[in-house]
Amino acid sequence: MNQKREAAVSNNLKRYGQHIIDSAEFAETFSQTHHIDTTVGDHTLYVSKTSLRICYYLNKLHIHTEIPDVVVGSLCHDLGIIGRDVKFSSKRECYRDHPSDSVEVARKLHPDLNARTEKMIRHHMWPYTLKSPGSKEGYILVVADKYCSIREGMRVIKKRLIDKF
Ligand SMILES: [Fe+2]
Ligand SMILES: [Fe+2]
Repeated sequence: MNQKREAAVSNNLKRYGQHIIDSAEFAETFSQTHHIDTTVGDHTLYVSKTSLRICYYLNKLHIHTEIPDVVVGSLCHDLGIIGRDVKFSSKRECYRDHPSDSVEVARKLHPDLNARTEKMIRHHMWPYTLKSPGSKEGYILVVADKYCSIREGMRVIKKRLIDKF
């Protein structure tokens, strides 16, 4: 593990996202299941750290990213999933509508939400949502979210195969 990189990831999460992590809404994410054997909270932290690791590598290539936006966008991207079983009537509806609900929660937790971060959250399901996130930071979140979701899915498949044989 790269200790310097992990320290930078952890410091950035605290510096720009502690107010979100400390919120009652974020605490609720740890009781909402996601991708079968994880929670929205664990998935969110995984995506946020992965997004920041991508920024760290891009920075080494002299590609600048807005770290505060990456932190706020990634920590808030799935907060609209909270209460899924009550407010959505199907998986499809949740898939389609949770990003705009996440924007509403993000506005509450981070009143200074800027346009770029709002777009990151609203279009993080791209290319499923036809509109793209429109920024480097938004594409970083798209990639990190897909990567983490696939890893989470693979873990379930692996576990089921081990249980079977
Ligand atoms: Fe999502
Ligand atoms: Fe996600």
